[in-house]
Amino acid sequence: MPMRFATAIAKWLEDRTGLGAALTPILGHTVPRRTASFWYVFGSSTLALFALQVATGVCLALVYVPSADQAYQSLVYLNHGAHLGWFLRAAHFWGSNAMVLVLVVHMLQVFLFGAYKYPRELTWICGVFLLLCTLGMAFTGQVLRWDQDAYWGLGIGASIASRAPGIGPGLVHVLLGGPIIGGRTLSRFFTVHVFLVPALLMALLGLHLWLVLRLGVNEWPMPGRLVDRETYRKRYEEEVQRDGVPFFPLAARKDMIAMAAVVLAVLVCAALFGPHGPRGFPDPTVIDTAPRPDFFFLWLFALFALLPAWTETFILLVGPVVAIGFLVALPFLSGAGEKSWLRRPGSVLAALLILLAIGTLTGLGTTSPWSPLMDGWSATPVPPIYVKGRSALELRGALVLQFKQCRNCHSLGGEGGLRGPALDGVASRLTRDQLIRQVLQGGGNMPAYGKNLSPAEVTALVAFMQTLHPVDEPVARTAAGPLLGPR
Ligand code: HEC
Repeated sequence: MPMRFATAIAKWLEDRTGLGAALTPILGHTVPRRTASFWYVFGSSTLALFALQVATGVCLALVYVPSADQAYQSLVYLNHGAHLGWFLRAAHFWGSNAMVLVLVVHMLQVFLFGAYKYPRELTWICGVFLLLCTLGMAFTGQVLRWDQDAYWGLGIGASIASRAPGIGPGLVHVLLGGPIIGGRTLSRFFTVHVFLVPALLMALLGLHLWLVLRLGVNEWPMPGRLVDRETYRKRYEEEVQRDGVPFFPLAARKDMIAMAAVVLAVLVCAALFGPHGPRGFPDPTVIDTAPRPDFFFLWLFALFALLPAWTETFILLVGPVVAIGFLVALPFLSGAGEKSWLRRPGSVLAALLILLAIGTLTGLGTTSPWSPLMDGWSATPVPPIYVKGRSALELRGALVLQFKQCRNCHSLGGEGGLRGPALDGVASRLTRDQLIRQVLQGGGNMPAYGKNLSPAEVTALVAFMQTLHPVDEPVARTAAGPLLGPR
């Protein structure tokens, strides 16, 4: 009886939607026999990992508070308070790592099998943008962790972006939602991570899968069997007719095994290694952190640390354009001809070299004894003319200013950040007491340094800042007299 009832419902649904009739041919469509292989499972494995990310992500969003002062605590609560919250965070973290990894393997396989060639150019381009979306998710996800790594990583990113000629300040404003890293920055990244990129990703994914269905799975590349735009489609049709196998269940079985394997691997990693961070409440006054990006960006981090600083801006602006441009142009540059990797030694070598370079840089990034040399966002030395003829106390203050990286936000002699006012001439604007109060209590978007400076350091710092005034302008003083009273 219940069986009959279920059948009746199914029949009713099929009658109204027609989905079964539409989907059955898709599942049963024939694919070239040799593609029912474990070489062809990386795309569906990426899809499985994406589904896992959506599922764990939605669960995390139930608890995560996207506000600058509570995000960190909500993650700590997930780690230690919520039942199995740590596992959820761990699964999302390891899932994101695995997704990037498997996606790259998928791309490599497609590249080596020549699957990007005619007529699958658009499928490849769609895939390039899927890669960008995935990396975008990985990057924005790191920021949502809202810890010291996220804060300082973003700070470094923003300072590099700010150096872009002309558009720099605008770019930083778009990135951070204002002049500083704060609540608006987090809202921005949350929206991008949770709504914008996932929507884009799903739309692209739909197009990608549609194209795969429409153009057929790439046949196993045979050395010497060239792609010719005139004859390719006909030959493909013939091969599938002559020697095809139904996608379901024959090829799909391997896909399902691989999908289960990668998801299981992620869950095992999550259980064994646990969640990542959050590492330290984000605090602009604690500068002795060594922010490290997650592994998929480590190679970039290492690259920038090793290259001379002056190349940074150039590479950051030109590099992505060249790389993405090349990937998009690839199917048009070599859209026909040989597909087999056995006959494309140049392509294989190029892929190996890129892998080797990225692998080496990643290795260096994990063990790096250095920290990246980032001029705009590091302890730029105080220019000599500001320390000439100063007392020992004032000199010590100049060092404090340098080591506490005040110039991340303040410029001196035209060099340094622009978030706070330039400090040249500050002594003619502010009195000693006002300087002390500004340093200890911060305010107006400046962090309070009260807990991170010893009284001696404050005294020295303020003594140094008091020397910062034009020669012909006097130092600001509290007006002595009964009107203002004691400060
Ligand atoms: C995160 C960015 C940031 C950092 C780091 C920072 N400041 Fe500031 N600072 C600001 C901002 C923004 C203002 C403006 C505050 C306002 O408008 O009230 C400011 C104002 C000041 C002022 C008052 C300047 C004036 O002309 O009114 C002084 C003095 C000052 N900072 C000193 C320091 C010192 C010393 C350090 C290092 C120990 C430091 N700042 C680190 C952002 C920063």
